[in-house]
Amino acid sequence: MPGLAIVGAQWGDEGKGKVTDLLAEQADVVIRFQGGNNAGHTIVRGDEVYRLHLIPSGILYPGKLCLIGNGVVVDPKVITSELDELRRRGVDTGGLRISANAHIIMPYHLLLDSEGETKLGKLQIGTTRRGIGPCYADKAARLGIRMQDLLDEKILRQKIYAALEPKRQLLRPFAKDPSIDLHAMTEEYRTLGHRLEPYIADTQRIVWDALDRNGMVVFEGAQGTLLDIDHGTYPFVTSSNPVAGAACVGAGVGPKDIDEVWGIAKAYVTRVGAGPFPTELEGELGDRIREAGGEFGTTTGRPRRCGWLDLVGLRYAVRLNGLTGLAITKLDVLTGIDPLCVATEYSGPEGATFSEFPYHQSILHKSTGIYTELPGWQEDITGARSLEDLPQTAREYIEYIEEFLGVPVVLVGVGPGRDQMIWTEAARRLQQAAA
Ligand code: GDP
Ligand code: IMO
Ligand code: MG
Repeated sequence: MPGLAIVGAQWGDEGKGKVTDLLAEQADVVIRFQGGNNAGHTIVRGDEVYRLHLIPSGILYPGKLCLIGNGVVVDPKVITSELDELRRRGVDTGGLRISANAHIIMPYHLLLDSEGETKLGKLQIGTTRRGIGPCYADKAARLGIRMQDLLDEKILRQKIYAALEPKRQLLRPFAKDPSIDLHAMTEEYRTLGHRLEPYIADTQRIVWDALDRNGMVVFEGAQGTLLDIDHGTYPFVTSSNPVAGAACVGAGVGPKDIDEVWGIAKAYVTRVGAGPFPTELEGELGDRIREAGGEFGTTTGRPRRCGWLDLVGLRYAVRLNGLTGLAITKLDVLTGIDPLCVATEYSGPEGATFSEFPYHQSILHKSTGIYTELPGWQEDITGARSLEDLPQTAREYIEYIEEFLGVPVVLVGVGPGRDQMIWTEAARRLQQAAA
């Protein structure tokens, strides 16, 4: 599998970090290609829990080349503290490289993100308030500051000045805030630049070299397909493209460099923040899944909204990403719930039904799932290591998803631990074919 993209197939938090960590063992390079520290990727190794926001999930393998691609937005303060924390825990971070072209989240982006949300009031998106949207907006407006700009004081000052000018009005309430004073900012970010300089590199060339050597490159997505700024539930989305196509742009490779695309989906669905969610469970069952699955945000600690598995949304994700494999995580969380429901269609306004994901916002807001009931199981499945170890009904649940979507299930998660994963025959076949 020379080029393998890992993408979220729902609204994020599907377990991309865990899957990337597992695949990173065989990989030569792991690269993040979009998003920023709005992401929270959890890796559990024995008693140790690592929560990564910017650094790719391959970093726990000493010396592994872990790249932050040009498509990522980097908060230099967050990445330095993430580096410090990993080092404190004895992790070798020598393999980290950050694209010189990656854009930087500045203090005014954080202020604008929070201010924008506050102003939206009841209409707010529920962003992570990490400055992601305003930073990508500046990138598109060509007012962005990039990693390479941190290395030259004169350029840095000029660019900060140019970025601040059109925002004067918006930033008026913060006029006295020392964190956005031009001179103080230039000095502070120059110092951060000094610290990060050893990591700044031409990341796309590193990826090309690995691919030329027939090495394996894992493209680690953040967020999820339904949070995609083009294809997701706009405007309740993030400001980047979490779909697989963005791996090309955000890492600097061509479509043919990506051989496999694995979509990660929970055996149910969660969403953090506002926006439509056709299969949402608001009552006791939703609470039960939240408790059993520990569904509280890795980045903001917010309780995640929970709901039944949505096969309409997943089929949309299969198509948008060109998925070649599907990883179903957190199957263990559904133990004891009987029957289980999966949405195979939506019921929309005025009695309309939809078998495809509706593009119209007002329809989606009023849609709810039409469900097929499947039998549950009571047995503890956290020790299962092959499909045969699962109770018949759990196997049938996986087979139902596989048949409905027409995509092989490659991995099934039965617990947060590294070893709590079933690798299916399909995963082995794909790996052998690639080798
Ligand atoms: P990501 O953002 O896609 O990397 O996912 P998060 O790390 O935000 O959230 C996934 C959570 O589920 C993490 O706490 C993982 O440790 C946990 N997790 C991953 N796979 C499984 C699984 O199969 N079963 C259970 N119970 N937990 C899992
Ligand atoms: P990972 O990589 C889940 C959501 C926010 C909000 C919307 C916009 O851990 O799966 P933003 O701060 O990006 O402008 O917020 O997107 N969101 C996520 N939800 N997982 C994530 O990342 C997310 N990153 C952003 O909650 O609804
Ligand atoms: Mg997460």
